[in-house]
Amino acid sequence: MDFLKLCADRYSLRSFADTPVSDEVLNQILEAGRLAPTAMNLQPQRIFVIRSSEALEKMRAVKKCYGANTILMICGDTEVACNRPKVDHCMAEMDCTIVTTQMMLAAQSLGVGSCWICAFDVPAMAKAFDLPENLTPYILLALGYPAEDAAPGPRHFERYPLEHTVTEL
Ligand SMILES: Cc1cc2nc3c(=O)[nH]c(=O)nc-3n(C[C@H](O)[C@H](O)[C@H](O)COP(=O)(O)O)c2cc1C
Repeated sequence: MDFLKLCADRYSLRSFADTPVSDEVLNQILEAGRLAPTAMNLQPQRIFVIRSSEALEKMRAVKKCYGANTILMICGDTEVACNRPKVDHCMAEMDCTIVTTQMMLAAQSLGVGSCWICAFDVPAMAKAFDLPENLTPYILLALGYPAEDAAPGPRHFERYPLEHTVTEL
């Protein structure tokens, strides 16, 4: 499929059908994340697959995720990630972002919708899943198939023209 069409067709899915994502499809999505570049190739991402009823119950107590029944919790290991010299900036979150982007687009290419979610209580999430101190949950990627009423939200159509965000110097 044409890559720009894939990007244009993707939207944040916020209404999920009950149809589960198969192991085979999920593994392909995870593989796309595994292949992502990371700073110094240190691969600090730690991804938790939330799909058992026990894990979903814990997740939904902190964040409901629009009723998705497969959720990836993308955490960064801040002890493993590369530190940007001089500014002392840990690149774990940046690494997790590219890993998640690749998984999100891989999902789209496989007909699986997704919603990228950051609006959750990070300390409460870490506590709910008993994460060690070095792991920070940065992103939730809700995955699944669109319900009948699924449609892009209004913000999906609000992209600025290139000249608003790009300047040639
Ligand atoms: C860093 C980031 C954080 C986001 N957090 C949330 C969120 O917490 N809840 C949500 O419903 N959508 C969230 N989104 C989805 C955006 O709202 C959405 O991508 C944007 O409005 C454009 O719409 P579209 O994805 O349908 O094209 C997030 C996206 C990004 C990249």
